[in-house]
Amino acid sequence: MRLRLLLCIGSTCFIALVNSIKYVPSFVFPPLSLNAGSEVAEALRAKLSDIVRNVLEDHSVQGQWDAATSSFAIQLTSTDETIWASYHTAAVTGDIGAAQKQVTGQTAFRVASLSKTFTVLALLLEKSIHLDDPVTDYIPELSHTSENLIQWHQISLRALASHLAGIPRDTGGNCFVWNEILDREDILPMLAELGFPPPNTSERREQNVCRIEDIIENARQVTPVYNPNDRSTYSNIAFSLLGAVLQRATGEEYEDIIRATVLDPLDMHQTTSLKPLDSQGIIPVDKNDWRTDLGADAPTAGLYSTADDLSKYLRSILGAELLSQAEVHQWLKPVSWSSSGSQSAYGMPWEIQRMALNPGGRVVDIFAKGGSLKGYYSSIMLFPEFGLGLTILVAGAETCLDELRERLATALVPAIDAATRDHVRSQYVGKYLGKGEGWRIELEIDEGSGLRIVEWTSNGTNFLQSYRFLQSIPESSQAILVPTGVLLREKESWRITWDRSNNRMWSDFRFTNVDDIVYDNTALSEMLISTKRNTIEALGITYTKAYEG
Ligand SMILES: *[C@@H]1O[C@H](CO)[C@@H](O)[C@H](O)[C@H]1NC(C)=O
Ligand SMILES: *[C@@H]1O[C@H](CO)[C@@H](O)[C@H](O)[C@H]1NC(C)=O
Repeated sequence: MRLRLLLCIGSTCFIALVNSIKYVPSFVFPPLSLNAGSEVAEALRAKLSDIVRNVLEDHSVQGQWDAATSSFAIQLTSTDETIWASYHTAAVTGDIGAAQKQVTGQTAFRVASLSKTFTVLALLLEKSIHLDDPVTDYIPELSHTSENLIQWHQISLRALASHLAGIPRDTGGNCFVWNEILDREDILPMLAELGFPPPNTSERREQNVCRIEDIIENARQVTPVYNPNDRSTYSNIAFSLLGAVLQRATGEEYEDIIRATVLDPLDMHQTTSLKPLDSQGIIPVDKNDWRTDLGADAPTAGLYSTADDLSKYLRSILGAELLSQAEVHQWLKPVSWSSSGSQSAYGMPWEIQRMALNPGGRVVDIFAKGGSLKGYYSSIMLFPEFGLGLTILVAGAETCLDELRERLATALVPAIDAATRDHVRSQYVGKYLGKGEGWRIELEIDEGSGLRIVEWTSNGTNFLQSYRFLQSIPESSQAILVPTGVLLREKESWRITWDRSNNRMWSDFRFTNVDDIVYDNTALSEMLISTKRNTIEALGITYTKAYEG
């Protein structure tokens, strides 16, 4: 909304137009429980398939990647079942001797850094491990480092799991180093030309597979990037160390730990840190990491998986199968900002995006994790507000993943939001009557924010007006009902919040104070809704739907 302001400087006055920002709550609808047979799922499938077709057609126009050499598997799942899948097989692959196969939901890809989420889940499930303990409690060799080096006793497992330890990105020393320029054969002949001084070490370093001892030894010798818990910086070492913590705490191998805690309980039999048979995977034609043994770096990037398995995995998080609902809510939270702005944050180790929906400006949170190894690019995304999870696995070009991820996510969110709106319109919108004509509640919905209370008449009195009067809420603010996710006496508990103008810095904190005032021990902001009985209960009075909106 645009607001007119009269500004005066000295004796000169002029009218300024400023954007008045509204406080709009996030999470304004209960998640749809989509099943594959519904009309909504049907429409969604058509829309998303169109997008994939466009991405495939556009690639050659933009020349960014080649559909002939990139393959992919994509699945969208609800809390209950996979509702859409799309597969593409490159005409030219690196599979040697194999008859041309088709990518399916059971084709293995390397999923690279998606592995980090499995490592964290195993830690959350392993009750003998405490995330707030310092890493030195589990790896005592890290205790004795000199002043200039990383002070590991100040670094908790939680900091490692959320990229907040302030430690370097990659392992070095004796074994394979991800980001060492001297290990890039394509660059070596150009070193002088690029302006590098001659390297101190003239011999090529061996690129051995890292063992846990190498990772720990290297960790003892590196200097910090930031101070612990200060700012986030992406770290692969952190998850290799967390893998070591799991092994030290349980005395078992990483593969066995994730199998016992995560993979077996979820029937994910195609997910492993051990290379599957070539015939079970898809291998891109260009140089790739299909066969690279990640050794003790497996907990950071070593897993192979399939779209079918990852859909099971995402469903288990949405449906709180392994963790309790309260633990899932805790897991799906930001831990630190990722540099500037508030549109993105790191979780543990989620890469969280806040996507603004128009109109209304409401934000939708996406909990994602990306992964990349040479030739393999992947992404999982959770949309908890909609009860959906999306998996994209690419064997081929990184730009193929970028394009699919961008276009699918930005189309999916508005589409599912519109479908959820339609559902809410049919289930909740309407006029509800209490004891007689003097008792009325009317709910409405528009394209912007959530479900609005347009009338609340209590014993013949405009009760919204009374609420505004008691809380000094301006006339221009509308009452919005937000679902709390809480069930009370088999009814959904919703709370009233107000979409107020938000031009002042601290306003959000006042506005999110939803449990504001109480009358006779009952919250004024609480409405209990039963869609089965078509009733709303407010301040102890039951209102029944008289007609639809
Ligand atoms: C190379 O060695 C010299 C002499 O020991 C040292 O001063 C310099 O910092 C080293 N350079 C790098 C990049 O480590
Ligand atoms: C409605 O208001 C009248 C006063 O205007 C009061 O006497 C009556 O008790 C109220 N009824 C209920 C059910 O609250």
